[in-house]
Amino acid sequence: MTPARVLAFAGSARAASLNKRLLRVAADAVAAAGAEVTVIDLDDYPMPVYHGDLEAREGVPANARKLREMFLAHGALLIASPENNGSVSALLKNTLDWVSRPLDGQNGLVPYQRKVAALLAASPGGLGGARGIAHLRAILVRLGVLVLPEQFTLPRAHEAFTGEGALAEPRHLASVTGLARRLVEIATRLAD
Ligand SMILES: Cc1cc2nc3c(=O)[nH]c(=O)nc-3n(C[C@H](O)[C@H](O)[C@H](O)COP(=O)(O)O)c2cc1C
Repeated sequence: MTPARVLAFAGSARAASLNKRLLRVAADAVAAAGAEVTVIDLDDYPMPVYHGDLEAREGVPANARKLREMFLAHGALLIASPENNGSVSALLKNTLDWVSRPLDGQNGLVPYQRKVAALLAASPGGLGGARGIAHLRAILVRLGVLVLPEQFTLPRAHEAFTGEGALAEPRHLASVTGLARRLVEIATRLAD
């Protein structure tokens, strides 16, 4: 059986991002469950805020094209999403929007179709980004992604990691591991 290919990214660009830390733990769990994981940093793919005139004038930015290729090359998505004012980060929404643009005669939804996603969120707040992740789920479903009903939110995330970047609470790691296994299970079935 070919291993499932999972594209993993966080919706935050900042170096000390709590969501990047959580993503790393989840990506390791996905790899341990038998999938091939590609972890990318959206900070390496800067692109302008979506603007229709800019697109008409210059086309889809090179970094959005690169990301689109990455989406096409993977059967599953693992996303750790910060919560900004009760929704997803502007960075994450902008990225998803650019990747959804039609390109070279191909429908913009193609990079999302037949994909399964697992969602996580980390926040210093008490709800762990639960409101933002609900919006992310709705966006991805709209784009045609099968989003796992299971998800993981990490409240008080600034206190949740050890100095080495592991999750301090075994129950948190167990939840992330369960989510990762489920993602790999479904992605493997979809890939067959
Ligand atoms: C503009 C803005 C709005 C925010 N709104 C929320 C919010 O609604 N809920 C929440 O839990 N945290 C909110 N935060 C705090 C973020 O969760 C916190 O900065 C978090 O560490 C960002 O994710 P990161 O560590 O992955 O960069 C907000 C932060 C910013 C900058």
